[in-house]
Amino acid sequence: MSLRLGDVAPDFTAETTQGTIQFHDWLGNGWGILFSHPADFTPVCTTELGSMSKLKPEFEKRNTKVIAISADPLDSHNKWIGDINETQNTTVNYPLIADPEFKVANLYGMIHPNVTDKFTVRSVFVIGPDKKIKLMITYPASTGRNFDEILRVVDSLQLTANYSVATPANWKQGEDVIITAAVKDEDIPAKFPKGHTRIKPYLRTTPQPNL
Ligand code: BEZ
Repeated sequence: MSLRLGDVAPDFTAETTQGTIQFHDWLGNGWGILFSHPADFTPVCTTELGSMSKLKPEFEKRNTKVIAISADPLDSHNKWIGDINETQNTTVNYPLIADPEFKVANLYGMIHPNVTDKFTVRSVFVIGPDKKIKLMITYPASTGRNFDEILRVVDSLQLTANYSVATPANWKQGEDVIITAAVKDEDIPAKFPKGHTRIKPYLRTTPQPNL
């Protein structure tokens, strides 16, 4: 059966460019991002891995580890990382899982046979400190992902985890957030001392609480 939000992210042991890992141990007590890409030495993937390495410090600030996966073997990954560093003007600074037998790819449903069974699609899993899957997105091979959007989602998920808020459409850091239905009107002033706006009984907003 395919994975759903709220499922425990499957654990696995794998070879990576930074040594062998046990996934749950590697995640530790923080957040994690596992993202798949179709194949080494391909153009879109080259830009994606470069982009993620530049954003890694931002994920670290959010206690979020990053790990990539593709089916190619370790020696191929290591050679390709040289190309990524050279062409994207960066240093790939997170592990890249080698999954030549599609063990992890199959565990996570990263193979979409109606597209191709030769390589993984572009999946992203955001995993919470409880090891549960908080977000899954899947892109086709031809569309490079927007890693700023993944960062935005992590910010939203962490706000929800720490405060009783949700984030509206196109929300960005610093903008007002939505008070969830679980909070009664009478409890709002104590819980959200920065104030709130009651636009409708079901639509109440407050300044971002962690700023
Ligand atoms: C790419 O990364 O450019 C790519 C990989 C597989 C299929 C198509 C494009």
